[in-house]
Amino acid sequence: MIKHISVLPGDGIGPEVTNEACRLLETVGAEFGHTFSFTFAHIGGAAIDAAGTPLPEETIAACRASDAVLLGAVGAPQYDRGPASGRPEAGLLGLRKALGVFANLRPITVFPALAKASPLKDEILKNVDFLIVRELTGGLYFGTPRERIETPEGLEVIDTLRYTEHEIERIIRLGYETARTRGRRLTSVDKANVLESSRVWRETVQRLQAEYPDVELNHLLVDNAAMQIVKNPGQFDVMVTENLFGDILSDEGAMITGSIGMLPSASLGNGGPGVYEPVHGSAPDIAGKGVANPLATFLSVALMLRQSLGMAAEADAVERAVNHVLTDGLRTADIADIGQSALGTAEMGDAVRDRLRAAAVKQ
Ligand code: IPM
Ligand code: MG
Repeated sequence: MIKHISVLPGDGIGPEVTNEACRLLETVGAEFGHTFSFTFAHIGGAAIDAAGTPLPEETIAACRASDAVLLGAVGAPQYDRGPASGRPEAGLLGLRKALGVFANLRPITVFPALAKASPLKDEILKNVDFLIVRELTGGLYFGTPRERIETPEGLEVIDTLRYTEHEIERIIRLGYETARTRGRRLTSVDKANVLESSRVWRETVQRLQAEYPDVELNHLLVDNAAMQIVKNPGQFDVMVTENLFGDILSDEGAMITGSIGMLPSASLGNGGPGVYEPVHGSAPDIAGKGVANPLATFLSVALMLRQSLGMAAEADAVERAVNHVLTDGLRTADIADIGQSALGTAEMGDAVRDRLRAAAVKQ
């Protein structure tokens, strides 16, 4: 099979981890008889440097013409000032909107070998395997007006939390559908005791429940959800929530696994190319040093293989290879024990590819 992948390395450690991911895909191709073609395009601060805008038209066109999009990270401290529309993050948000990827899936699983890297106690880590389904193209991230108003009494600022019923319904439906493919338990997270948008959210969840009688439903207020994620994360199967809540809760969920360097994500819409990216962001403090953990990007590649490219066996092989390096005790700096020597980005990439090849030979 030939598959076309748009690669958007972006900023910070993005180029390092996506480079390793492309090499990993080449190994998958060699072992399983596929060809992956890569089209590289700019996004974020890298795009501002190259083209004067965080999301050039060519980038959108390349993504639309591909089977899937692999994204590194956006965000660079030198662009932290100035209007929001000129920031690197505007490139990522614009891409999500342009491709209509309204659903962001962030699986939270614990690799047993990494249990020590988690700040949570062993007994709390038992049975942790849940999926956050985050709404990705609405809410506070996109609502208007969004402005600063100078008043005689001082500055007034406005952000707008706006959702249509259609946007709410399609993500909740996806939550229910996804729960059906897993443990049939759905937790809907909102702030219905305060926000009108959350009240419509909860009404929608309740209305749709009639169509999914086989899915056990539970509502949590977002503050309680934040607490439950560290208190008893094993209780969750699928958690569905709006954009900002999902942003915050998924970073919290990531820490269960020990490092945000382990968390992959898939952003999907209605049939167009999905966007696959590690959750960790650009990490400017370690950029260019060759020490970043590529595993979240590798696990994002596994999601891409499974969700967008119809290659489930290949996805399993990548996940097994990642698990294998961890059980062999190999670590990058972010997940190493104190005093343990750590591999660099490329060495970790080599180690995963070795395990992948060895496993393929055995089969
Ligand atoms: C994420 C990131 C982005 C978001 C930023 C970089 C705009 O934190 O993907 O979670 O807030 O969605
Ligand atoms: Mg985030």
